[in-house]
Amino acid sequence: MKLLVTGGAGFIGSAVVRLAVGRGYEVVNVDALTYAGCLENVAVVSDSPLYAFEHVDIRDRTALDAVFGKHEPDAVMHLAAESHVDRSIDGPGDFIETNITGTYNMLEAARSYWVEKGKPETFRFHHISTDEVFGSLGPEGMFTEETPYDPRSPYSASKAASDHLVRAWHETYGLPVVLTNCSNNYGPYHFPEKLIPVVILNALAGQDIPVYGEGLNVRDWLFVEDHADALLLVLAKGAVGRSYNIGGENEARNIDLVKTICAILDRLRPKDGSYADQIIFVQDRAGHDLRYAIDPSRIRDELGWRPSVTLQEGLERTVAWYLDNEDWWRALQARDGVGQRLGVKA
Ligand SMILES: NC(=O)c1ccc[n+]([C@@H]2O[C@H](COP(=O)([O-])OP(=O)(O)OC[C@H]3O[C@@H](n4cnc5c(N)ncnc54)[C@H](O)[C@@H]3O)[C@@H](O)[C@H]2O)c1
Repeated sequence: MKLLVTGGAGFIGSAVVRLAVGRGYEVVNVDALTYAGCLENVAVVSDSPLYAFEHVDIRDRTALDAVFGKHEPDAVMHLAAESHVDRSIDGPGDFIETNITGTYNMLEAARSYWVEKGKPETFRFHHISTDEVFGSLGPEGMFTEETPYDPRSPYSASKAASDHLVRAWHETYGLPVVLTNCSNNYGPYHFPEKLIPVVILNALAGQDIPVYGEGLNVRDWLFVEDHADALLLVLAKGAVGRSYNIGGENEARNIDLVKTICAILDRLRPKDGSYADQIIFVQDRAGHDLRYAIDPSRIRDELGWRPSVTLQEGLERTVAWYLDNEDWWRALQARDGVGQRLGVKA
């Protein structure tokens, strides 16, 4: 089976590419290599005969048609996106172009290819989205697949728009789609502007560890390799037209998460005093959603999937990976905007 994976040089997409090639799928990785893309993330599979790379921007419909024509995939896994909420606050334009127009281009290129092939029932367009489309929870409750959409940042609004387009292409044109909305991911190859790598790398550099607001925002953390496993399962077994929420069953307040990482570092890379002494509280993100939590009943009951890694285990593995892969993150720290405070303009 041949998969066309968009955004396969990013954090989650590269985990999908590595896992899929490891399981014997042929994979075509379509990525524009923006500031967030890194081919090092897929270096372990890049020599495999099962792997191909296409340096293509999903905003370029003509190039997408050529990729479909050349590789003739059996399924699409669409992950390419602008993904950083803070960047979406400072510059929403790229999010509209890539996440909405880019998804529209992907849908049209896939539809045209699928029609040309005689509309095979086995074809799939798997759209990978976020729980942020559902908005913000109070202290109680969880997001189900029936929760009304209520996006509150330019990032989540652009992802919500793309979800609606994907559903519309199924209802209107019959394109065989599946959708997933997952919670916050973490793990190896996480770009060094996101919370968990920022904590690890600032701690190691002896710098302040910034926590937004009072650190009371709650996220449901999902280990990226568990997410990749769930995505391949939904692709293979998910019902056409259906969406599945994917969560880690690992809720944590930001401040508790940061303290846990500091405690792991205290053990793995001891220094005088604790890394937790470097924690400082900084101005909150504009419109910072208080809490996200996923009710994973559907994917658990219908497809038999559960996360395999607890938050403590996943964080141990993640911290150890960053300690062992300094060359990888040092190179990315030089990229545009990394290490600067973003998302406070509004
Ligand atoms: N990171 C999370 O916690 C999380 C949670 C839920 C859902 N998601 C979704 O999963 C997907 C992947 O997220 P991620 O964290 O791996 O993102 P990422 O920012 O690490 O990677 C995005 C990748 O897409 C590529 N890309 C960006 N614009 C492109 C364009 N116009 N054309 C082609 N390629 C382009 C980048 O080069 C990069 O390789 C996104 O759709 C995101 O919305 C992420």
